[in-house]
Order: sequence, then structure tokens, then C-alpha cells
Amino acid sequence: MDTKVVLIDRERLGIADSRKWAEAGLTSAPERTMDGTEVFSPRLDALLAEAAQILRNGGLVAFPTETVYGLGANGLDEAAAGRIYKAKGRPSDNPLILHISTPEELVPLVQEVPETARKLMEAFWPGPLTMIFEKSGIVPYGTTGGLDTVAVRMPDDPIASRMIALAGVPVAAPSANLSGRPSPTTAQHVIEDMSGRIEMILDGGPVGIGVESTIVDVTGSVPVLLRPGAVTMEMLRDIVGEVSVDSAIAGPMAADVKPKAPGMKYRHYAPRAELVLVEEAGTDGNKAVVSGSDAIIAAINRLTRERLAEGYSVGILCTDETKDCYPAGIVRSVGLRASQESIAHSLFAVLREFDDLNVDFIYSESFARDHLGQAIMNRLTKAAGYRIIYCDGFGQRL
Ligand code: TXA
Ligand code: MG
Repeated sequence: MDTKVVLIDRERLGIADSRKWAEAGLTSAPERTMDGTEVFSPRLDALLAEAAQILRNGGLVAFPTETVYGLGANGLDEAAAGRIYKAKGRPSDNPLILHISTPEELVPLVQEVPETARKLMEAFWPGPLTMIFEKSGIVPYGTTGGLDTVAVRMPDDPIASRMIALAGVPVAAPSANLSGRPSPTTAQHVIEDMSGRIEMILDGGPVGIGVESTIVDVTGSVPVLLRPGAVTMEMLRDIVGEVSVDSAIAGPMAADVKPKAPGMKYRHYAPRAELVLVEEAGTDGNKAVVSGSDAIIAAINRLTRERLAEGYSVGILCTDETKDCYPAGIVRSVGLRASQESIAHSLFAVLREFDDLNVDFIYSESFARDHLGQAIMNRLTKAAGYRIIYCDGFGQRL
């Protein structure tokens, strides 16, 4: 199959950039800058009409959102959803998120909209928040992986939003990567993974946030965080008070436990190399917040020397503040420690780059786990298969 790549030049079309989420410091939901005439210009509609038609015909279209690129299909068409699983090589028990373009489109998809969900929608939609509801009869089990619940999100990116509106159906979309690879944050990443497997890729440039949406289960009396993202735990608690955290976020799943978000049991975001996080014991990642810790740097340099002496190639994942402290290995910065947004933005791209460089080992600095750091460390520890090396204050391995 030929995959058509359509370039959407945001600047020329005068449409909002999803990067505004990152620039806003993630403290509040962005203002919706689009009003029918200006943003949804006839030119954008002309570009998106073909994508919408493909979706209505049961085809697959990859598209940018403010979090990561999605791989879309008609979410009410079981056969179309089935093609997503095939294109990604994704296990069919891993449910998909339905993407909508207005809050009203939620109503026919769910049994009820609980009060907590209303508050969260008000605060964070459109934006990087997915909520889990009891599903209605029109949502096929082929979309929900056989579950009686459905995940729904209203993305903020005007390209995604307008495409969904033109398609006239909820768009089921996982991240547009091959199963097990890091989520795509540029159209180039999507092309690498999906070329020849899907009808169309909309290239809207690099995404703004870089990690997937926050997922919250709102079916019970207390909302449960299933996946951390740019709508942080702190932001959720500000709106609804109590929020509990699913145990799958904290650590590896026991083989006999059924996680609430089925996707959390798979080893996601896995780079080809053996990724190991290096953390100073007793600091919970926090000591490294401002400058990067000397102990972590010493430990990574020691580990790197050992592996190089054994003939392996080594990647080092660090930050702008520390990148000059590593004399050996292939050193890549993921951004500024002082800006968690910058780290989230580049994390998956750097993991993909290490794949391309074919390194055998990646040693990564660890990060604070508050705010957006919870999402960053969740993705990193999963990519590392929960391998963490702890060192003492002198960088000696414990
Ligand atoms: O930011 C995002 O959410 C991106 C963009 C494209 O919107 N999408 C995304 O989809 O990350 P995906 O399929 O890669 O991750 C969806 C996660 C999976 O872990 C899945 O198990 C969980 O959501 N999920 C979906 N439906 C669910 C349900 N009914 N109950 C619990 N978890 C669900
Ligand atoms: Mg994914």
C-alpha cells in the first residue's frame, strides 16, 4: 500500500500550535484559540477532507495531537479498529482511546458522565486528559479490547480536532508507533514505523508535549490515575480533591495481576539497547533536579568505562546541565533539568535516536518524580524494564 504524506504548514494556515501547552507551563488548560472562521480555514478543510473520507471508508490515518502522533480509524467500525491492531502489531486485548472534537460527542459513547468527569472536562478539555467511562451499546468491543468501559479524549491540536469533526465519527487512535517502540513525536517517526501499512500520514510538525495523555478512570467513587501525563496529579487534585494511583504506575506488575489499563502490562517504549536508570540512593531523583548530581555522573562514567572496556557501545541520556560531564560514550541531552516540559518533549526522540545508533547499553540519569516528572519517570522506568542502579553519594554502586 502506498502511504500518502500530507504536509500541513501550521504557520501558513495560521492555526494554533499545540506547543502552547508546553509554553503555558502546564498550569491550566489552554484557551481555545480557534473560532470557526479563522482556524478552520477552507484551506485546512481542503487538506483534511481526504483524511476524513479515508476514515469514513474504514481506512487508517496517522495525525498529530498535542501529546504524540495517533493512528486513527473509525472507532465505531470494528473492522477498521481491527486494522489498527494489525498495522501496529498490537495485542487485541489492549483497548483504544476514542478521540472526539466537542464535549457533546461524549454523550452517545458512554452510559453516564459522572460529576468528577464533568469537572475534569471543564478544566482540561480540550487537552491531554483521557477518561475511562462505562461504554454505551454503540461502542464495539473490537475497540475496547472486550471491556465494558471506553477511554475518551478530546485533543487540543486543531489538526486533530478538525479532522475528527469532518470525519463525523469518534476516531479510535493509539500512538502511531509499531507496538513496543517509543511513541512518535514527529511525522518522520511515524513514517519509519507505518509507511506502507496505512493510507495517510498528516505531517503537522513536531508535537508539543511529547508524552501520551494522562489517563483517569472516573467510573468509581474516587478517580484513579492509570497513566501519568501532562495533566499532572497535582493539577487533578486541584480540581477533584482525592485521586488514587493505580499500582501499575509504581512498579512492575506481578504476573497474576490484571492491570486496569491493559496497555500498562506490556513493556512499552522499549529501546533496543539495555536501558538502565542511575539514581542516587535516598534522593528519589530529587537531588538531581537542579544541577544533576555529581554522584550520578560519577556512577554513569564508571559504568560507561566498564562497558566500553568490554567492547560494547554505550549511550548516555542526560541533560543540558550535565552533558559536558561525560568524556566517553555517545552523549545525548533530553533537555533542561530546569524545564520538565523540555525533557518530556525530547524523551522519545532521543530513545529512538539511540535505536538508530544501535548502542548496546544506555545509562540514563534519573529525574524528580513530581509534576510532569511523574510521567517522565514512568516512561523511563518502563523503558528500562524497571532496571535501576542505585549509587551512594560518591557514585559507588550499591
Ligand atoms: O496521548 C494519547 O493518549 C495518545 C494520542 C494519540 O491521543 N494515544 C495513546 O494511545 O497513547 P495508546 O493506545 O498508545 O494508549 C492507550 C492506553 C493503553 O494503555 C490502554 O490500555 C489504555 O489506554 N486504555 C484504553 N482504553 C481503556 C479502558 N477502557 N480501560 C482502561 N485502560 C484503557
Ligand atoms: Mg502507545
